[in-house]
Amino acid sequence: MRFFRFRTIDELKSEVKHLGLDEIIKFDENLSEVFKPIKVGRLVIGNRFAVHPMEGCDGTLDGKPDELTFRRWERFGGGGAKLVWGEATAVVEEGRANPRQLLLNEKNLKEFALLVQKARKAHREIWGDDSDLVIGIQLTHSGRWSYKRPIIAFHNPVVDSLTYIDKEKKIPIDKNYPVVSDDYLERLEDKFVKCAKLAFEAGFQFVDIKQCHTYLLNELLAGRTRDGKYGGDFLSRTRFIRNVVRKIKSELGDKIEVASRINVFDCIPFLKDINGIGKPVNYPVPYLYGFGVKEDNPLEPDLTEPIELIKILASMGVKLINISMGSPYYNPHIGRPFETPPIDGYKQPEQPLFGVARHFKLTSEVKNAVGSDVIIVGTGYSYLREFFVYAAEANIKEQRVSIVGVGRGALAYPDFFLDLKRYGKLNPSKVCITISHCTNLMRSKHNELGQFPAGCVPRDKVYAKIFQIARKGYTKK
Ligand SMILES: Cc1cc2nc3c(=O)[nH]c(=O)nc-3n(C[C@H](O)[C@H](O)[C@H](O)COP(=O)(O)O)c2cc1C
Repeated sequence: MRFFRFRTIDELKSEVKHLGLDEIIKFDENLSEVFKPIKVGRLVIGNRFAVHPMEGCDGTLDGKPDELTFRRWERFGGGGAKLVWGEATAVVEEGRANPRQLLLNEKNLKEFALLVQKARKAHREIWGDDSDLVIGIQLTHSGRWSYKRPIIAFHNPVVDSLTYIDKEKKIPIDKNYPVVSDDYLERLEDKFVKCAKLAFEAGFQFVDIKQCHTYLLNELLAGRTRDGKYGGDFLSRTRFIRNVVRKIKSELGDKIEVASRINVFDCIPFLKDINGIGKPVNYPVPYLYGFGVKEDNPLEPDLTEPIELIKILASMGVKLINISMGSPYYNPHIGRPFETPPIDGYKQPEQPLFGVARHFKLTSEVKNAVGSDVIIVGTGYSYLREFFVYAAEANIKEQRVSIVGVGRGALAYPDFFLDLKRYGKLNPSKVCITISHCTNLMRSKHNELGQFPAGCVPRDKVYAKIFQIARKGYTKK
């Protein structure tokens, strides 16, 4: 099915109205707010566009940025969005999501510093000045999605059956699979702190302590059934993040900003029905295994705890929050509304504009609740193609978001801001068309490095070629 068939903003507006979403998805074609700078602590971000963290799975096997990593960051740096939110970077080897994920340690520091320098240089070459360009890095532990073996915070009866110890043979973990110890977590806190110091030395201006997409720190937030000091009540479930923030603040002061990308709504897994369409799995009630979900209906968000967490973090000096939701592994339509599913996914269970609306609605509720002191970066814009800038303008004007981030949209069209400045609008032949080939490449492991690099297949010749090679493996299977 083709969902996105809008050639003009009016056609899109009329569909939004037809779906009853016009109070949530709004557009404003008089662009002004998107060009205004905004401050985070002592940093000035020169406009209201961010490049979301977009992993390219293209590092060296020991976790250094490689040729394609540098290329991607240069394109992001030169593009003109003034907030470049660097991608998922593991703090420990066993927490990497794939063998080519970036890994921050002393040995790799030089290359990380070069990554920042190259992105800044690319920016200066086009824009002259980079004093209002802000670049950070996302620090992560992949938890149950770590590629060597799952590292789980607790047993989740619905997600465990999708958490494989043998991915080829699809053998899931069983109920005797060990839960990560408090001891490990205590040591891991210090690994995050160490990496924050390294990030500062490399020249990053902020570190994102990643708490989204059901990776380890996101899972800890949902650990109601976990024993010990990191599980159970809200204070215990937030102990890890609070400790990490406190330690980074005490060791680095305001040399570096601390940020966090947070899932405000995990939702639950979806699987294909007989028509290939996504359908929620059966779940136990009360559902005690998700963050930001209603216990009696985890298909519905409950923002009470996410808002509380963001307020606590703000009181500790975390003033930059990136809102996300869902899991790329078991409900990809929640995080990234798409036209065509990824190879391991299902067809859209909803018209994707509902997914965009969910992002906008939850983000604006959070923004309203936490106040203007916290800079809120929103997600879910790429699906709107060349029209996303008008949604950005409307949302910023109405204070429903502070900065608009684009993920797939930036892979496809890294220089979108340059075109916006030059021509006053985006070029429809350069935008992301959400057909999930970037994710397909991420899911492709059948080369000598155990991982294909991810990028935009329809818009970038480099990845079109890589996709041709990867695709042969799909047909063989
Ligand atoms: C290829 C690919 C890589 C991604 N890498 C990351 C990442 O490193 N960290 C992260 O938080 N999200 C990551 N995401 C999610 C995006 O940042 C973003 O949240 C998602 O694509 C939805 O935004 P969009 O509609 O603008 O694409 C990735 C998504 C894709 C498709």
